[in-house]
Amino acid sequence: MKKNFILILGFSVILTVSMSFIPGDNQDYKKKEVPKEFVEKENPYKGDESLKMIGLRNFNRHCVSCHGKKGKGDGVMAKNMKVSPGDLTLPEMDQYTDGEIYYLSFIGIENRPDFLKLIPSEEDKWAVVNFVRTLND
Ligand code: HEC
Repeated sequence: MKKNFILILGFSVILTVSMSFIPGDNQDYKKKEVPKEFVEKENPYKGDESLKMIGLRNFNRHCVSCHGKKGKGDGVMAKNMKVSPGDLTLPEMDQYTDGEIYYLSFIGIENRPDFLKLIPSEEDKWAVVNFVRTLND
């Protein structure tokens, strides 16, 4: 009897430990490092509804090819890319400040067009940030 009990106990421990190594839904999302100055960067256009269309238009023009229309990471270019554009609809996106989204959208990712040149206006850039924020609503 006692032997069986120890056997079952041992088995449950092994099962529990091995399960914690199997990533569940989105448990494997790793937050990206962003320089401090951007973490704290203020969004002067926060909640500005009038920028909605500008955000959408710029996202469609500059981002959809990789990120897909809804931000799922399924744009036409995504298939042939070594690093997946990720999924902008994840709830985990909420852990970023607007400044961090700004950095990740225009600066912090390699092998993308130079968005600081392509989207020179600050208003347009924040419009895109506001739009990206709506993707995981
Ligand atoms: C050439 C393809 C490409 C284009 C165009 C592109 N991205 Fe990305 N983007 C990526 C890739 C690839 C990553 C993920 C890189 C990584 O995980 O290291 C990424 C990551 C991101 C992230 C961080 C996502 C995360 O999970 O942490 C944001 C936010 C983002 N992009 C926004 C944008 C916005 C906004 C635009 C348009 C202005 C844009 N990107 C245009 C390829 C692209």
